[in-house]
Amino acid sequence: MTVNLLFANSTTDLFYIYMSTLRYFSIISLAVLIFSCHKDEQTPPPNNSVNTPTPYIIEIPKFFPTILNIPSDNPMTVEGIKLGRYLFYDGRLCGKQDTLMSCGTCHSQQYSFENGLGHGIGVTGIQTPHVMLPFINLVFNSNGYLWNGKVEHNNPAYNTPATYGGNLEDICWMGVTAPWELHGDTNHSKAAIQAISIYPPMFKAAFGSDVVTFKNISKAIAQFIRTLISSNSKFDRYIRSEENLSSHELNGYVIFNTEKGDCFHCHGTILFTTNGYYNNAKDTVFNDQRDRFHVTGDPSDIGAYKATTLRNISLTGPYMHDGRFSTLDEVINFYSEGLVWSPYVNPLMKKVNDGGAHLTPSEKADLKAFLLTLTDTDFVTNPAFSKPAGLP
Ligand code: HEC
Ligand code: HEC
Repeated sequence: MTVNLLFANSTTDLFYIYMSTLRYFSIISLAVLIFSCHKDEQTPPPNNSVNTPTPYIIEIPKFFPTILNIPSDNPMTVEGIKLGRYLFYDGRLCGKQDTLMSCGTCHSQQYSFENGLGHGIGVTGIQTPHVMLPFINLVFNSNGYLWNGKVEHNNPAYNTPATYGGNLEDICWMGVTAPWELHGDTNHSKAAIQAISIYPPMFKAAFGSDVVTFKNISKAIAQFIRTLISSNSKFDRYIRSEENLSSHELNGYVIFNTEKGDCFHCHGTILFTTNGYYNNAKDTVFNDQRDRFHVTGDPSDIGAYKATTLRNISLTGPYMHDGRFSTLDEVINFYSEGLVWSPYVNPLMKKVNDGGAHLTPSEKADLKAFLLTLTDTDFVTNPAFSKPAGLP
């Protein structure tokens, strides 16, 4: 009941936007149809049915947003996703002789596509500046990637002919080239993949040409990441009326979703993230060059980071961008008693003036019990997301 009320507004809004978009597109499609019919009379289209990839339709889980972040120049196809899954797990993508590190080495399915350690350690042994981020429901996120949201549509640095408009596609080349990740070179990667006999036919099936380009490598991996949808946690089954929550879990849910715990402002919605960036009152001194402020230049973003999704949160510790908390208990204690004031704390941190929400030990236990209902074991064991057999 509470759930339906809580989701009602955003669902209605999304539905409205969806319907208006639909209407808008119908008008355009009609125009295109009329125009193309006219054109068809003069020149019949070539018969390219042999190489047409199969469209992949994302099944949107119940109560999830209907707006998907799929760029128009990279539609999802069965063949593209398959290729992306291979490349994601293939250590030869880094184009180096002496290592087989792949995207999947750090982004491991069993930890919801994190590594279970916090920081990643790249090919050269250099530690990643921030801790890992998981891949959960990223196809529903149009508000920037990475802890500071640097990869976003609004960032002009990602709107050049060499880049991909600030989307998941851009992170693929960053993952290949970053010194603390694969530390490769996109030309070496391209050549290495072209030389492996399984790949040219897969590129042909996905993109119509067996010539490997880095653009198509990036597109394929992004397509695979967009399929990683988690929607079968105990909480999902509860809102679908398939399973009950215990009284402790329900109480935790109430704490989470009311001013009592004050979590929902930033980790709300069915995605358990607003995908927004906030300073959540951890520090009084700010010297990280990779916070949101260093992307936007807006002083209200000093010390702000993505309020990450709390789905699968039991699998993705240590917590916060710098991994300062090892356990969920430490995180809950922080929100309960550890908040510190600075001029940059986000106004949605309503408890900052009291130092926290001051939960009792049993309220903390209930909140934790609720957070544990967000773990989706089907997601971390789904064979469609695992390393394909036969890769080195
Ligand atoms: C050495 C470990 C490591 C490797 C290898 C690696 N990553 Fe990452 N990845 C990270 C870390 C750490 C972050 C978080 C970085 C940050 O925001 O500061 C991240 C973030 C991401 C994100 C952003 C997720 C989000 O929610 O915003 C995506 C997407 C991603 N990586 C894709 C890839 C791909 C594709 C590859 C392979 C080409 C790859 N990664 C290789 C460590 C790694
Ligand atoms: C004002 C917005 C805001 C509110 C309210 C808020 N959080 Fe957060 N939360 C964040 C931000 C931002 C981060 C990431 C901060 C960072 O990395 O430095 C975060 C991080 C977390 C993390 C770690 C995520 C990870 O992947 O490492 C957990 C767990 C968490 N919050 C739980 C909660 C709980 C439980 C509550 C309520 C008691 C709550 N949050 C209230 C903004 C908020």
